[in-house]
Formats: sequence, C-alpha cells, structure tokens
Amino acid sequence: FFESDSAKPLRGRKVLVTAGPTHEPIDPVRYIANRSSGKQGYAIADALAELGADVTLISGPTRLDASQNVTLRAVESAQEMLVACEETLPVDAAVFAAAVADWRVNNEASQKIKKQAGALPDLSLTENPDILATISGSVSNRPALVVGFAAETENIVENGKAKLDKKGCDWIVANDVSASTGTFGGEENQVFLLKGASTESWPKQTKQGVARTLGAHISDFFQSKST
Ligand code: CTP
Ligand code: CA
Repeated sequence: FFESDSAKPLRGRKVLVTAGPTHEPIDPVRYIANRSSGKQGYAIADALAELGADVTLISGPTRLDASQNVTLRAVESAQEMLVACEETLPVDAAVFAAAVADWRVNNEASQKIKKQAGALPDLSLTENPDILATISGSVSNRPALVVGFAAETENIVENGKAKLDKKGCDWIVANDVSASTGTFGGEENQVFLLKGASTESWPKQTKQGVARTLGAHISDFFQSKST
C-alpha cells in the first residue's frame, strides 16, 4: 500500500473520453459541425488523469491542447470517432462528452463545389452512427461504466432521462445549453447527474469543477465495486 493510492483512486483503470465537435465534410473546404469548444471534455480527461487513470482523449477539432498525461487521438468525423473508440476498447469507463454531428453528407464532393447563382448544391444527408449507443450496447466489450451527456435547451431532466433509456448508458450528465446560460464556449456549466431514477442537481461551477465532481463519482463507483 502506497500513501499516494488514496489520492490516485483510479490508478490502473483505463478510461476513454470523447470531446469536441465532429466535422462532416461537404467538399474539401466545407463541413457540417456542432457547436462545441471541447472544454468540458478536456477538463474531464484531465481530472480523470489527475486521479490516476490511464486516459485516452478522442477529440474532434478544437483549439485546445491536451494535457501531457492524457493520450490524445485527434479525429475529424463521427465515423472516425467511432473507429477510434472501438480501437481503444477495452476500457473500464467511457465518458462521451463530444458534440457529435447527427448527420453527414453522403455524397461528399471530391472537388470544391462551385457556387452558381440561383443553383443550390444537391446535398443528401444520412444519419451518423450513435457512438454512445453503440459502445453502450457492445456485447463483448462494454465498459463497466458508460457516461453520456445530454445537451438540452429545454426540459433538461426529462430529456436527459429519456436519453439514459434510449442510449443504454449508466449515467447521463444533462446540461442546459440554451443561449442565456453562456454554456457554449463559456467557462461554467450547470448540470444534473442522472443515475437511473436518481437526479442530482449540481451548483453552477467551472467546467473544471464539474469535471472534478464527476471524477469523484467515478472513483466512488469503482471503489464500491471493489469492496
Ligand atoms: N452521441 C454520440 N454519437 C452520436 C450522437 C450523440 O456518441 N452520433 C453522444 C453524445 O456524445 C452525448 C449523447 O450521445 O454523450 C447525447 O447526445 P445528444 O446530441 O444530446 O443526443 P442525441 O441522441 O443525438 O439527440 P438530439 O441531438 O436529437 O437531442
Ligand atoms: Ca445530437
């Protein structure tokens, strides 16, 4: 027993975190994306590494630098993010904080589409794979703990609970991303942690604060599993 073990409760645990938006190409210069700075996901990766976990951060394009003690895998599209997640399995826990684009263009142009007055490009959309639902439903490789996010602009808790069921994950961190909260790109977040029937409302705090609190819950989960 080492004295530092109490400060590193996730030592020996492998964790994956997704973060940032995905970019779905229309042509070589244009894409469809979600609004996401990546700050919350990067803060979670950091907090879990701080607790001793071996963290792989699978990130879409952001302006952020990953900290030295996490392994960064940079991806662009949802399909690439899913492949990177599958290649990172098996893990003990997975946190899906990425704002994945729900749709992609299925007729991506290999050359830049030229603008022509009065004529719109013929874009056809198809649904992206749901990474969280896919990993939650994995039969042979499901992480012991799967945590999703629910970015909502109204009925935060109800919509979050519906996502918990629909995605088959263990917990949902539901947050209010309506314009008035300043969540997008901002430094603070007000979230609810939904664990089955239980709902915890956390005070508004920095994204680092949310990350550390979530890290404490994840540590408790593994601590109570092993005792
Ligand atoms: N998610 C994912 N892959 C997708 C879409 C979403 O892994 N293709 C994950 C997100 O990372 C998040 C959770 O699913 O953890 C919920 O994402 P959200 O966009 O809120 O839910 P959707 O099911 O896509 O529903 P909607 O956008 O219609 O609210
Ligand atoms: Ca979505």
